[in-house]
Formats: sequence, structure tokens, C-alpha cells
Amino acid sequence: MNIPLSKVYVDQEIKDRVWEVIDSGQYVLGSQSKGFEKEFAQFTGTKHAVLTSSGTSAIFLCLKALGVGPGDGILVPSLTAFPTVEPVFHVGAKPIFVDIDDTFTMSPAHVEEILKTASSRTDIRKIVGIIPVHLYGHPADMDRLMGLAKQYGIFILEDCCQAHGARYQGKRVGSMGIAGCFSFYPSKNLTVFGDGGMVVTDDEALARKCRMLRDHGREAKYEHELVGYNLRFNEIQAAVGRIQLSKLEGFNEARRNIARWYSEGLEGNSLTLPSVKEWAQPVFHLYVAQTTKRDELAKFLKEKGIQTGIHYPIPCHLQPGVRNTIGPQPKLEKTEEVANKILSLPIYPALEREKVDFVCATIKEFFKVKL
Ligand SMILES: Cc1ncc(COP(=O)(O)O)c(C=O)c1O
Repeated sequence: MNIPLSKVYVDQEIKDRVWEVIDSGQYVLGSQSKGFEKEFAQFTGTKHAVLTSSGTSAIFLCLKALGVGPGDGILVPSLTAFPTVEPVFHVGAKPIFVDIDDTFTMSPAHVEEILKTASSRTDIRKIVGIIPVHLYGHPADMDRLMGLAKQYGIFILEDCCQAHGARYQGKRVGSMGIAGCFSFYPSKNLTVFGDGGMVVTDDEALARKCRMLRDHGREAKYEHELVGYNLRFNEIQAAVGRIQLSKLEGFNEARRNIARWYSEGLEGNSLTLPSVKEWAQPVFHLYVAQTTKRDELAKFLKEKGIQTGIHYPIPCHLQPGVRNTIGPQPKLEKTEEVANKILSLPIYPALEREKVDFVCATIKEFFKVKL
């Protein structure tokens, strides 16, 4: 057996479309990109979508367009990919790290505690926004976070990089905060065969500013209203993204089925399995189980040809890059506890039932030998 952690979908239609775009002579932000933006906005139930070079640049563009800068603090979970946090530094703001709840996403109780005490703490700058991450494809508890954001007059920018198509109480992720940011990196639920990202928002002015900043600060060809960047997107990948988007609901349904097979196959074992909140329709970007024997189990699975991952072994608040930039950060109990126990099992739409059964049987074998 050789079972990878994730696998990109490709078919003949995609290959044919790529050749068509090569022959079209249009390569950057052309009709494919415009079509992808329109369809993605429709899919997420938002008015505007802006393609960017990556999920990281989508977050960066939003923070920049929202005017976040030096002196500002942004609440972010620590259990996330480092690129959630990097753009906060890049605009000169300071991340304030938040612990997680039992869904692995940002704890609203901890957010509230920080917001309540922020004005009396010297280590916290003026908090202007929250970036919840819909981690592993499970939405964060948006109602409670949105309530707090409203109470304190701050924005919510959703990091949807692992959650294309997930819903919170029926609403698509990305459609609830001031904007939502997506990544199309090859491991994601929607991929474009390289790097890519998207901002979605109902805010026309914000969309316009993101659009300008991504293309050297301009709307007209030779007039630069702002000093911007080159964070543009290309036509070949937009064409791929459009086909992948048309199949995304099916991909996500397949992921949910695989998650169910794992949950059934592993029930009653020594693993803690992921739980789904009643308000969530997750998309299982990752299937993350927990065990104190994580490293031994990962090694055992690898020997049997099963690839696993750890998302993430070092939480952001403990990363050397953070410590060296803003100093040591306060302890986050739950985040630090789960970082030693989490293990991501293989999941991708084409993963067959027999392979999932093999992973489950191999895990059972491990615990029989070890316990
Ligand atoms: C939660 C999260 N945020 C942000 C990013 C950044 O996306 P990208 O790799 O497209 O820059 C990723 C992807 O790695 C991610 O998983």
C-alpha cells in the first residue's frame, strides 16, 4: 500500500483547457480570471471576489486595504498555518494569540477574556480586528465571535484557506466577516496546480482597494492611484480553478463520506476523533485524530505505506520567528496540549473505501501491539 496524505484532482478536461488558454495569448488577469472571480463570489454568496497570488497575499491585501498598521493588534489563533500570522507582521501590526476550543478553532471565551482586559494590559496594542481560522475545514464559532466584534467595534477577517465551501448555520464561510480569504495551494479542497488565493467580500470599496493594491495600485493602465504590489493571478490557473470549483461540492461530499468511514472504523479505539458542532457543515480539509502515542503511531503507519501529517507541531506563538520579533508569548494551555497529540490521516476526494479500511485496520493493529 502507498497512501498519500492528499492528492490533487486532474482530468482530461483540465488538461485540454490549459492548452486552450496557452493558445489564447492572454496570460494575466484576463477573461478566465474574471470568470473565476464571478463564479467564486456566487459560490460563497458574496458580491465581490478578487483573485490574488496566494492565500497569504489575500490576507495581506485585506489588512492593508483595511488600513491596519503599526500600533494595531490583531487577535489570531495560534493553532494555524504560519501564513495566517505573517501578514499581520507585514503590515506592522502585532498578533495577539488566542487559544482554541474543542473544534480546534479560536475560542470565543478566550477572545472575550482578552478584549475585556486589553485596555489594562501594557503588552497589548489597540485591538482592531479578529482573524478566525476555519481550521481543518470546520467553521469557527462565528456568531459568538461576530457578537464580540460588534460589541468592541472591531472587524472580523475570515481565514477560509482550509474551508472552501464549509457552512456555518447554513452560511458559507467567507460571507460573514468583512471579508474572507482563500488559498488554492495544491493540498487544499480547491486547487489550481500552483499558488493562488482569493478575497471575497460584500464591501465594494474594500474589493476595489484590494484589486488596485494587487496590481501596482492602479485601475487605469498608466495611472497609479496607490503604491501597490504585484500580487496578480494568471489565466492558466484561473481556468483550472473554474473547473475545480464546478466539482467542489462533489469533492467536499466525498471528504465528508471519508470522514464518516474513519469515524465508524476507528470508534472505540484509543484515538480521540474530530467532533462536528451542530451548527457546522465542515469540509474535512484534514481529518485530525489525537493520541498521546502520536509519534509512534505516525512511524508505524509510515512503515505500512501510510503518509500522515501534523498540523501543526509548533503553534505560531511558540515559533522562533515570533519570539525573535515580538518576544516570548503567553502560554496557551489547550493549543500546546493538542500540538503534541494531533495526527492528520490521509484524506482526499478520490481516496477509496478499501484504503480507509486499511488505515483503520493498521491503526487498530498498532494499538493492539502497544496497549
Ligand atoms: C489556515 C491557512 N491560512 C493561510 C494559508 C496561506 O495560504 P497560501 O499557502 O496560499 O499562501 C494557508 C495555507 O497554507 C492556511 O492553511
